[in-house]
Amino acid sequence: MRIGLNSSSNNTCVVVLTADAEFESSARAIFGASSAIELVVVPGRLADVGDTLNVSAATVVVVDLDAGRAEEMAALARLTARIGQWPPVIAITQVFDETVARTLMQMRVADFLVKPIAGIDLVRACASVGKGTGRGNDLTEAQIYTFLPAVGGAGVTTLAIQTAMLLLNSGGPRANPSTCLLDLEFQHGAVADYLDLEPRLNLAEIEPRPDRLDRQLLEVMLSYHASGLAVVAAPNRPAEMRTFDLDVVTRLLDLVSANFEYVVFDMPRTWFSWTDRVLLGSNKLYIVSESTVPGLRHAKQLVSAIKERLGEGPNPQVIVNRFEQRMFSSGLRLNDVRQALGESFVSAIPNDYALVREAIDRGVPLDEVKPGNRITTELKKLVLPAANAKAGHGKPVPLLKKLKLSAAR
Ligand SMILES: Nc1ncnc2c1ncn2[C@@H]1O[C@H](COP(=O)(O)OP(=O)(O)O)[C@@H](O)[C@H]1O
Ligand SMILES: [Mg+2]
Repeated sequence: MRIGLNSSSNNTCVVVLTADAEFESSARAIFGASSAIELVVVPGRLADVGDTLNVSAATVVVVDLDAGRAEEMAALARLTARIGQWPPVIAITQVFDETVARTLMQMRVADFLVKPIAGIDLVRACASVGKGTGRGNDLTEAQIYTFLPAVGGAGVTTLAIQTAMLLLNSGGPRANPSTCLLDLEFQHGAVADYLDLEPRLNLAEIEPRPDRLDRQLLEVMLSYHASGLAVVAAPNRPAEMRTFDLDVVTRLLDLVSANFEYVVFDMPRTWFSWTDRVLLGSNKLYIVSESTVPGLRHAKQLVSAIKERLGEGPNPQVIVNRFEQRMFSSGLRLNDVRQALGESFVSAIPNDYALVREAIDRGVPLDEVKPGNRITTELKKLVLPAANAKAGHGKPVPLLKKLKLSAAR
């Protein structure tokens, strides 16, 4: 699910790069008439202007290139590498052969058209590859898991990290899905510490110009754990009172959700201007609490507050962490928890302080300290069914489809 391409409008923005005056005027004729489409024409050859092409507001990028020239193909490779999975790129060529097709496919170009192009074909291609701006295109868009605290110290960071690790390793015999964990606790973030990583997110650098944040700059601001987990975390500035722009955070979230298969958010307790947007964009929303009377009360209040504010969309579910099932103690039993929380209760995660402590001190996931431990086992039951259901829903890439069609002719 996407969080919103840009915060100001839902308009479709088509960016066309071309050095061909005739193609430019036909693009203007095709797209210029509609008020729902914003057309940005960038004149010039791809090899000359490709590296500085601004695609931050684009829904679709149409690149007219001379596929017979090596420097043009190299510029396209740089452009697609910089853009990553979003926005989609449509290549327009004059020549077309098997080598060009294979190269375009390897560059993950979303579609291609060969000149001369009928207007309707260009519109169709843009509509088809640009669909992801709407809801429900889960081919290029991440599954988002968000963890929100009901009380302080309930274990949001611990559970967010373990969930990210489980999702990362959920590939089975297939390649592991790309997974990114974002620490949105800007002021007291602990993700980098718990994983023993150097935080590299520099929001002050992005803030003056959010549109500068592209795949390449994001890459600079990611930290990678030895497991392959990508982490976005900012260095702690405990004495600094600050919050970030909605636009900056939105841009960051969009980019991350367009470039990873799974995204996990570690959220702060404070409600910021961007909190609604994260919650609305989440596929799974977990409220983490503890099994005390105030803990359950806060969780319940938070569930109703979210429903009241954001409607039925986000469906918050409560995880009771550090749960101890004692037969003869006076503590809360599972039934009490169920009764207090009703339908919003989804899971009780066992208490095992020694295990969690050791994992944090060594900067490794729980499973590495103790394979098959009870915390990971419970979490797996909760988060992996959704992940497994998602696997196997892949749609064929339009370009592949097209190649198959042309081969059949
Ligand atoms: N299931 C658990 N069993 C035992 N201790 C836990 C568990 N989950 C978290 N903790 C401990 O609780 C403390 C707070 O956890 P943390 O994940 O930092 O919470 P939060 O991010 O909500 O502030 C840490 O000391 C952590 O080791
Ligand atoms: Mg935390």
